[in-house]
Amino acid sequence: MAIYDGQDKTPLFDAIVGYANENKISFHTPGHKHGKGMLKVFRQYVGDKVFRLDLSVMSEVDSLHEPSSVIKEAQVLAAKAYGADYSFFLVNGTTGGNQAMILSACDPGDKIIIPRNAHKSVISAVILAGAEPVYLMPKVDEVSDLILNLTPEQVEEACRQHPDAKAVLVTNPTYFGLTTDLEAIAEIVHQYDKVLLVDEAHGPHLHFHPSLPKSAIDSGADMCVQSTHKHLAALSQGSMLHVKGVRVDILRLKTTLQMLQTTSPSYVILGSLDLSRYQMVHGGEQALSQVLEMCEAARARINKIPGLSCLTREQVRKIPYLDLDPTKLTVSTKGLPCSGYDMAKILNSEYGIQTEMADFQNVLLFVSLGNTPKELKRFTSALEKIVVDYKDMFMNQKKRKRIVFPSFVPRKEVNPREALTRLTRKIPFKRSVGKVCAEIVCPYPPGIPVLCPGEVITQEIYNYLLNVLDSGARINGQSDGRLQTIKVLEDAPAASAPQKKLFAIG
Ligand SMILES: Cc1ncc(COP(=O)(O)O)c(C=O)c1O
Repeated sequence: MAIYDGQDKTPLFDAIVGYANENKISFHTPGHKHGKGMLKVFRQYVGDKVFRLDLSVMSEVDSLHEPSSVIKEAQVLAAKAYGADYSFFLVNGTTGGNQAMILSACDPGDKIIIPRNAHKSVISAVILAGAEPVYLMPKVDEVSDLILNLTPEQVEEACRQHPDAKAVLVTNPTYFGLTTDLEAIAEIVHQYDKVLLVDEAHGPHLHFHPSLPKSAIDSGADMCVQSTHKHLAALSQGSMLHVKGVRVDILRLKTTLQMLQTTSPSYVILGSLDLSRYQMVHGGEQALSQVLEMCEAARARINKIPGLSCLTREQVRKIPYLDLDPTKLTVSTKGLPCSGYDMAKILNSEYGIQTEMADFQNVLLFVSLGNTPKELKRFTSALEKIVVDYKDMFMNQKKRKRIVFPSFVPRKEVNPREALTRLTRKIPFKRSVGKVCAEIVCPYPPGIPVLCPGEVITQEIYNYLLNVLDSGARINGQSDGRLQTIKVLEDAPAASAPQKKLFAIG
C-alpha cells in the first residue's frame, strides 16, 4: 500500500502527549486532575500516565465539535488513508455513527431501506429520525443457519418499489463477516438517486489488505461507519465515519454529529484513533497478512476435528454475491449434540478462552492484529481436547432444537417512532400474540431485533422468542429481560384517557 503524504505523523496523539508532558496545574475538567483525585486502587492498577492524557477541550488539543488544528489534521490523514473525502472521529462507537448517518440523511417521514438484521443502533436511529423503515430480509443459509447479506436484486427491487426512499443502508460485513457485492449495490442505489450508507462496524481493516473483501468507500458507498475499536487497536468506543462523493450534506452531518456526541470527548480514545490510522498505513497490510495466515491455519485444523466445522471463504463464495472476511472464525457445533453456548462455556471456564459470541450452534471468534498464532493454537488444541473429553457427556445430551431466525419481516401496524409515543401497557408475554409491540425485543445473541415498536407479535415470532430464551440467550433493551411480560400498545384508548405519552420507554 502506498504511504501518502504526511502519514508519518500522528498530530493528535503528539499534541495530547505534548500537553500532558507540560505538567500544567489543572483547574479544569476532568475532576480527577491528572489522576491525583482518583482512588488509589485504579491508579495503582493502570499507572499515572493515562490520567495525564485524559484532558478537556482546549486549544492545544483542539475541539472535536469545531476542529481547526490537530483533530482536523488527524481526520484529514484518516480520510486520505481510507480513500475518503472526509473522516470524522467518533467517541460513541458505531452506534453514534449510525445515528449520525441516518439523522443526516433522512427527514421525519422519509423512507429508508434497511436490512431487518441491522444492528439495534440502526433501528434506534430510524426511530430518532422519525423515518419510515422499509425492511429487507436477507436469506438464511440452510446449511449454517447463518443470516446472509442483502443481494443487489433485493436492493434493486426495493428501490423500484420505493422510488421515494431517501437512503439505503447495508450492514457490511455482518457480525459473522459475511459481505455482499457492495459495488453492484452502490451502482443500483445511485441509479435510483438515493444515498448508500454502510454500517461497516466490522470492517475497519478491509481497506488495508488486497485479499480482503472491498471496503465500503472503495465500493462506492456515500457514507460508512467503522468500529475502529472492534477490529483494529483503538480504544473501546473509538469509531470513524467516512464520507465520499457529493451526495452527503456535510454541513448537516457535522451539525448532527455535534448534536449526538458528548461535549467532553475522551482524548485517550481520540488519540488512539489517530494511532490506529498510523498503524494501518505503516505495516497494516503485513500485520493483516499474518492475521489471515493464522486464521487459515486454525480453520484448516478445526475442519479436521470430528463434529466441528469452521466456515470457509470457499463455502461462502458459492453463494451468489457473497464473500467472507476470513478474520472472523465461525465454528459450528452442529455435528455434535453440544450448543455453541456450551462450547463457549467450556472454553471459558476450563481453558481461559473468551470468545466474541456464541449462539445455538456457533462460536464466533474475532481475530485481529492483537492476536498471536500461539493463542489460536491454544484455541484449536482446546477444541480438539473438548471434543474427546466431553464425548460421553455430549452423547447423553438430548438433541437440540433447531432455531432459525424468522424468515419474514413482522407486519408494521404503526410507525416505530409513533409507537413509542403511544399509550402502552405491560401484559404477560403468553397473551401477546396479535398485539402490537411497543418496544425493541432483541435477543443477544445474535443481537438482531426480532420485534420493533409498532410491529405485530405473531405466533411464529412468539415461538421463536420462547425457543431463543430456552436456549440461553438474553433479551437486551427490553423492559423485562426474561420476557415474562412485554409492553404492547393499548388496543383502543378510552375516550377520556390521554392519547399520547412522551417516550414510553423503560
Ligand atoms: C453491525 C453492528 N453495527 C453497529 C454496532 C455498534 O457498534 P459500537 O459498539 O461501536 O457502537 C455493532 C456492535 O456490535 C454491530 O455489530
